[in-house]
Amino acid sequence: MPRVSAVSLRDRKKAGEKIAVLTAYDFPTAKLIDQSGVDVVLVGDSCGMVVMGRENTLSVTMDEMVYHTRIVSSAVERALVVGDMPFLSYQVSPQEAVRNAGRLIVEGGAQAVKLEGPAQRFGDTIRAILDASIPVMGHIGLQPQSIHQLGGYKVQGRDAEGRTRLIEEAKGLEQIGCFAIVLECVPASLAKEITESISIPTIGIGAGPDCDGQVLVMHDMLGMGKYTKFSKVYFDAGAAMKTAFESYVSEVKSGAFPTAEHSFE
Ligand code: KIV
Repeated sequence: MPRVSAVSLRDRKKAGEKIAVLTAYDFPTAKLIDQSGVDVVLVGDSCGMVVMGRENTLSVTMDEMVYHTRIVSSAVERALVVGDMPFLSYQVSPQEAVRNAGRLIVEGGAQAVKLEGPAQRFGDTIRAILDASIPVMGHIGLQPQSIHQLGGYKVQGRDAEGRTRLIEEAKGLEQIGCFAIVLECVPASLAKEITESISIPTIGIGAGPDCDGQVLVMHDMLGMGKYTKFSKVYFDAGAAMKTAFESYVSEVKSGAFPTAEHSFE
């Protein structure tokens, strides 16, 4: 089966086919996710929180993103791999942004990058990355790299002014040439309006059912992340793993493991 490309996602929107996106950070789960038929694997800077246990995503470095992106890329054969640009990897200058986006492609093996913020703020940067032939996925609404400015993890675009701004931001990202846009934590009716007003796919997280696709953080959907209203636990792997670890500890203590079956003559 051919690999999903940034260009082909636009055709899915035209055909009315929904797009499934999941995050991944390591080899075995990236392989399983790819085999599940997901369209896009996002190596999100959320790895700072769900894999590294940090309070937010702000301290994630380029080297850490390259490391995780390379691991995921080596496992994924079919889905589009998108590497997330961490805080300060693209905010300083377009030149630095191109260099860092290029690292996610060359060293990380990704086929596209994602960055947070509208074209109204990062137009020159997004254009420079696109000019280097690197596809860019936008990300508006709640932008976790701006939590200190936003005052916390809050739903965005609730009032008329916020709604108008977000619609303009989505149109700006479409016009500049992004191949898709993540809409994070925006009212469902606004996500629907944005989705209907642009030709590139919207990928929602906490943005209701009318986006062109959905993205979830893998650890949240496996019961190993934080509880969020917009996520759904499809399998409580966290609880299953804890039970397995407890059984192992108890069998080692009691001498029930290992038996002859797990031993050499
Ligand atoms: O870092 C991430 O995983 C993300 C998704 C939540 C969209 O940006």
